[in-house]
Amino acid sequence: MIKKITFIGSGNVAHNLGKVLLKNGIEIIQVYSRNIENAKKLAVQLAAAFTDDLRKLNTESDLYIIASSDNAIEKIANQLDLEGKLVVHTSGSVSIKVLTNATQNCGSFYPLQTFTKSHQADFTLIPICIEASSLESFQILKELANNLSTKVVNMTSEQRQKLHLAAVFVSNFSNYMQVIGYELCEEQQVDFNLLKPLIKEVFEKNQQHNAIDNQTGPALRGDTFTMNKHLDLLENNKELSELYQLISNMIGKSK
Ligand SMILES: NC(=O)c1ccc[n+]([C@@H]2O[C@H](COP(=O)([O-])OP(=O)(O)OC[C@H]3O[C@@H](n4cnc5c(N)ncnc54)[C@H](OP(=O)(O)O)[C@@H]3O)[C@@H](O)[C@H]2O)c1
Repeated sequence: MIKKITFIGSGNVAHNLGKVLLKNGIEIIQVYSRNIENAKKLAVQLAAAFTDDLRKLNTESDLYIIASSDNAIEKIANQLDLEGKLVVHTSGSVSIKVLTNATQNCGSFYPLQTFTKSHQADFTLIPICIEASSLESFQILKELANNLSTKVVNMTSEQRQKLHLAAVFVSNFSNYMQVIGYELCEEQQVDFNLLKPLIKEVFEKNQQHNAIDNQTGPALRGDTFTMNKHLDLLENNKELSELYQLISNMIGKSK
């Protein structure tokens, strides 16, 4: 059973996960960050000690959570000597193999949601994807995740990486589509808020039905006249014009 945790990294995920773990009775005993001020800021909120020196990491924790940027996980793991201790990362896209230089007892604890420091997420409905190097560690992580969420899923690194790729499309990319929509409205001083009921309807409908069944629009209907009009409106924006054609072609073929 996990009682004491150390966080390595003090960003969005460490803030959200650290706080919900604390609320659930877990002691956060230390926060590491390469930037001591960032380590301190989070540590104060979690009633934890803090350090900017990986050599000063405590050895009393039951679990070490590396919540650093994806690029840094392996580099950090290579500097740790925690053999026998359970070490996980929180990444959607990094294999747990990169942790084996730190310890053979490793895994991943990937909460499938978008997190920012300024907003504390409600974990109860957030899927937590778990992977571990042994059945025993898997059970330990599962028990911990079950305290936070009603949706805990067993997943291999390969499955998690594909899921993360899907998450980038449905979340990051669709968010960026709204950024494009905002800019197009701005160009004609049209109020972007007019699009909000439409955005809400698309996302809400997709909670009930498959997205493929909810597709509408000129590309699906084969309305080439309208599509050509749109391309005329984008004639001064090569990138957007190419993006429009690429997505429209894919939608057209999806029929
Ligand atoms: N944010 C999300 O929505 C989300 C959701 C699920 C999973 N994740 C995963 O969770 C992990 C953390 O994401 P995040 O959004 O919390 O990231 P973040 O807010 O950017 O924080 C990254 C942390 O990593 C540290 N770091 C970056 N490069 C480093 C290096 N070279 N050496 C040591 N420390 C380094 C940063 O230190 P400084 O403070 O000094 O910059 C910071 O503490 C990632 O693996 C990400 O894929 C993120």
